Amino acid sequence: MGRASGRAEMLDRLGMTLPIVQAPMAGVSTPALAAAVSNAGGLGSIGVGASDVASARKMIEELRGQTDRAFNVNVFVHETPKPDPRREAAWLDALRPQFAEFGATPPSGLRTIYKSFVDDRDMLALLIEVKPAVVSLHFGLPSKDVIAALKQAGIILFATATSLDDARKTEAAGIDVIVAQGIEAGGHRGVFDPEAHDDYLGTVALTRLLVRNCKLPVIAAGGIMDGAGIAAALDLGAVSAQLGTAFIACPESSADDGYRRALMGAGAYHTQLTSLISGRPARAIANRFTALKDTLDAAVPSYPIAYDAGKALNAAAKAKGEDGFGAQWAGQGAPLARAMPAAELVTTLMREFEAARRN
Ligand SMILES: Cc1cc2nc3c(=O)[nH]c(=O)nc-3n(C[C@H](O)[C@H](O)[C@H](O)COP(=O)(O)O)c2cc1C
Repeated sequence: MGRASGRAEMLDRLGMTLPIVQAPMAGVSTPALAAAVSNAGGLGSIGVGASDVASARKMIEELRGQTDRAFNVNVFVHETPKPDPRREAAWLDALRPQFAEFGATPPSGLRTIYKSFVDDRDMLALLIEVKPAVVSLHFGLPSKDVIAALKQAGIILFATATSLDDARKTEAAGIDVIVAQGIEAGGHRGVFDPEAHDDYLGTVALTRLLVRNCKLPVIAAGGIMDGAGIAAALDLGAVSAQLGTAFIACPESSADDGYRRALMGAGAYHTQLTSLISGRPARAIANRFTALKDTLDAAVPSYPIAYDAGKALNAAAKAKGEDGFGAQWAGQGAPLARAMPAAELVTTLMREFEAARRN
């Protein structure tokens, strides 16, 4: 089967008329955003990686209430974090001056603020019960029995890979579609092992590597902001493009005003990969938090334990009107983001895509 018919088959299976996946973005994507994209013919996604089962259920129900079409529910499959009270205390101590600037003190300790899907049998039970058309996996793969149970429920599985090694593991595990996430991408890098060497492959090289070496359909993600970018992804052999940053400024997203301003500001031209905010490498708009890399001299706690400190510092700063400590995730294409309703953005992307195809 050629690549073009492979693409048609995958899009058909999901009832997608357009090769656009709106990336799951925990804390930013909403049921309204995902529904708008799915209703427009793409694949909308919600991220429940940082949610508990009750709020995940609520989001899925809300989304079901707004679309009859396929959508994707995304979970985080990271290694179970190992609490290390001494390291966490040293980290909080290092952040003390930042808290003090806002008249606050660091919390007395840090918690694991959300579970990995690996440890969340209730989330698995929910997904099997509600059966979204797609479940996507970020940061790794669950066990064989979990993959089998999801597939048994008729769910199509996507998984992020940032390297050929992780893609090969994905293929061997029986996943249906690989999301090739290049270094340009906004948000957390989907690396399976954050301690391992990372080649920081860009979207073009990674997509070609996976298309040429893997049998599974590949979705390209990272730095794709307009129709020309989508056309380029498809020319590379991807079955679809996945766009995250492009959708942050949509009114349907839950990005706060400070984040929206940052996306339109100078820092958007200087996104940075940082582990300081959450404990795992993620690309964010350059802000006061990312700048701490030059001054902080303490080991970052495990993901997502470090995120508890990051969120507390942001809350303290925000309470005093400072937006620069937010987790303002965005990809290298951030300055190309447009603020418009999601349905209009999808129409615009497709108009640009058709124009790029005619050139
Ligand atoms: C704000 C934001 C949050 C994200 N959250 C998630 C997430 O919860 N799950 C996930 O698999 N990917 C997440 N990502 C990564 C996206 O799936 C995708 O790889 C990335 O957005 C593609 O690059 P782009 O932002 O340049 O379009 C996030 C990206 C952004 C920008």
